[in-house]
Amino acid sequence: MERENFGNRFGVLVAMAGSAIGLGNLWRFPYLVGSYGGAAFVFVYIFCVFLLCLPIFMSEVIVGRRSHANAYGAFKKLAPGTKWKWLGAVSVVTPIIVVSYYSVVGGWSVEYFFKALTLEFTAGATQAEMGTMFGRFISSVWAPITGHTIFLLLTAFIIIAGVKSGIEKFGKVMMPLLFVLIIFIAVRAATLPGAGEGLKYLFQPDFSKIDASVCAAALGQAFFSLSLGVGTILTYGSYVSRNENIIASSTYTATADFLFAMLASCAIMPAVFAFGLNPQEGPGLVFETLPFIFANMPLGWLVAILFFLALIVAALTSSISLYEVGVAYLVEERKFSRRGASVLVFLIAWVLGILCSLSFGPLSDLHIFGQTIFNFFDKLSANVLMPVGGLLLVIFVGWVMKKADVLDEMTNGGSLPGNRRISGFIYFLIRYICPLAVAAVFLSALIF
Ligand code: PHE
Repeated sequence: MERENFGNRFGVLVAMAGSAIGLGNLWRFPYLVGSYGGAAFVFVYIFCVFLLCLPIFMSEVIVGRRSHANAYGAFKKLAPGTKWKWLGAVSVVTPIIVVSYYSVVGGWSVEYFFKALTLEFTAGATQAEMGTMFGRFISSVWAPITGHTIFLLLTAFIIIAGVKSGIEKFGKVMMPLLFVLIIFIAVRAATLPGAGEGLKYLFQPDFSKIDASVCAAALGQAFFSLSLGVGTILTYGSYVSRNENIIASSTYTATADFLFAMLASCAIMPAVFAFGLNPQEGPGLVFETLPFIFANMPLGWLVAILFFLALIVAALTSSISLYEVGVAYLVEERKFSRRGASVLVFLIAWVLGILCSLSFGPLSDLHIFGQTIFNFFDKLSANVLMPVGGLLLVIFVGWVMKKADVLDEMTNGGSLPGNRRISGFIYFLIRYICPLAVAAVFLSALIF
């Protein structure tokens, strides 16, 4: 069977940026910035993204394009008869776990979008009331499960449409729209009276705040935000054509992802400061604080609708990239039809997601290693499976694959002179710096 490829460079970019840009940027990054000291966190994050995670990102694309196979098949092809296929197997299972809880948060966004449409965020409501509203919603049974189901169904429809006419087409329309939306909201927020404090908080680092926990959180977020270590970028890399410039596309993606996270923070932090709220609010920041802000600012109803629409769109382009990993595996290794594979992944993610959703309500007493199901899935993937997956992958590219093959992928057989000049340095990062730094941060997070 002929494998599909992304149509052109813009298609590759929007698909990869679509995967990277998601709830990680709009929901996770701003609350981490708030919890870990503002600009100091941003400063460390920049190092993590561009020095450590960007080379890992390139490594994943290299493995994908070199093998032209799904996450499991890739290791079977590049290292036949070795145990590396187990890394492939883990890379197929992890994204299904991630997509199940990711689509629960996607479902919350769907619900909040409808709340915004029906003008439920009314002026005069206090922030405590918004908090109660959120708490009551996520701990109920049917509403969040409905949101989760709608969100997962949307994901499945785009996946069934295929790589080119589904993933690529959706991304090409939605990603530019998303940038426009978030810039509009950021400008609106930055012009609120008192917003300057928020911008200062984001851009004026207090270096004394940097410690091991800040570094671990920043690295974990960089992994999460760039979709690393779960076979996603590898699978998308396998749809990248031979004449594409891997170094350039990866760098553009990481830059767009970083800019988007900063834009999201510029939309949120100034508003938080303008209204005298607490930036250390934690994971509830988007769902509890923002509706309050929207309710109390001029044109807030419109901003609310746009914001939650942006949240859904961003989350969808990421969830399809998670979903595609399992589908590509089932189609290529287990001979499923694309539709059949999509249904199977849907069923697994749907059931697991329902358990995650219920863990905020009726199943809140059910604990795995002391965590609720949702938190267990989140911690297991973001703090363990993703960094370990990324670490093993970069070791694979740096130490198992032939150096000549890796350089060949980076330079398209030597035909890209600009890339030839920097490929040695990138290879050095891949072989020595990335594995050591990631292992060090991972271990320090375990120890401290
Ligand atoms: N990068 C996505 C985000 O920031 C999440 C994601 C993680 C997507 C892993 C794919 C793989 O929301």
